Amino acid sequence: MNQKKDTFVIAVDGPSGSGKSSLCRETARRLGMTHINTGSYYRVIAWQISLRPGFSWTQEEVQSVCHEIEEKFHWDSTTGNPLWEGQICLKQLNSERMGKLASQAAQNTHVRQALKEVFRRHGCMDPHGTIMEGRDIGTEIFPGAALKIYVDLSAKVRAERRFRDEYPHLEGNPDNYPLELESLLTKIEQRDMRDSERDVAPLIKAEDALLFQNDKPFRESAANLVEIIKSSLSKK
Ligand code: DC
Repeated sequence: MNQKKDTFVIAVDGPSGSGKSSLCRETARRLGMTHINTGSYYRVIAWQISLRPGFSWTQEEVQSVCHEIEEKFHWDSTTGNPLWEGQICLKQLNSERMGKLASQAAQNTHVRQALKEVFRRHGCMDPHGTIMEGRDIGTEIFPGAALKIYVDLSAKVRAERRFRDEYPHLEGNPDNYPLELESLLTKIEQRDMRDSERDVAPLIKAEDALLFQNDKPFRESAANLVEIIKSSLSKK
């Protein structure tokens, strides 16, 4: 890999629900960099495969879907919406079903290999820099990244944040609903375990990654991350 090009990449990894996507989008916007959310590529690949009944999962077929994705899938950088052939495809990608299919697609070695090449090409395109986020960016995709950040947030806080989405009819403090909170916490802990113990590209903090606790209000967190990136890049 071309080490020089890696100097444009900020690799951000972290568990599901840690708030890294919104944080990276805002940070990239403030720094005038490109933001790439790699999870959305796993979702778009799952979506496109689900539209091809009898898909055989051979290397050739997977590569052909990836080529189509490179051509037809883009982000609208002003609104932050994913586009397929120019049409917003947020609903298709963010459904519960697509999350499950994406997680299965992410276990497939042909998919990972094909997307790795896509990510490496896309990560080097913007001379102003790219913030690429996912699970294995600092460990597998850009081990020579200019800066690696591991965004974390305790499972308890993630459960509290998810509470409002999953139980919109329950009012007040989530701590008043210990059973519901406990069930969310269990789901989150199980998913963390699956992500960090899987054989293929498990979620682990790269040794040289900086640990970033995303537990402050959003604007404060984004401002902190902007400062960390600026100060790290000014030393290079
Ligand atoms: O972040 P997300 O939930 O949109 O990601 C969708 C799936 O893709 C999820 O199962 C984790 C997986 N993924 C991955 O394995 N490696 C990445 N770099 C990004 C996402």
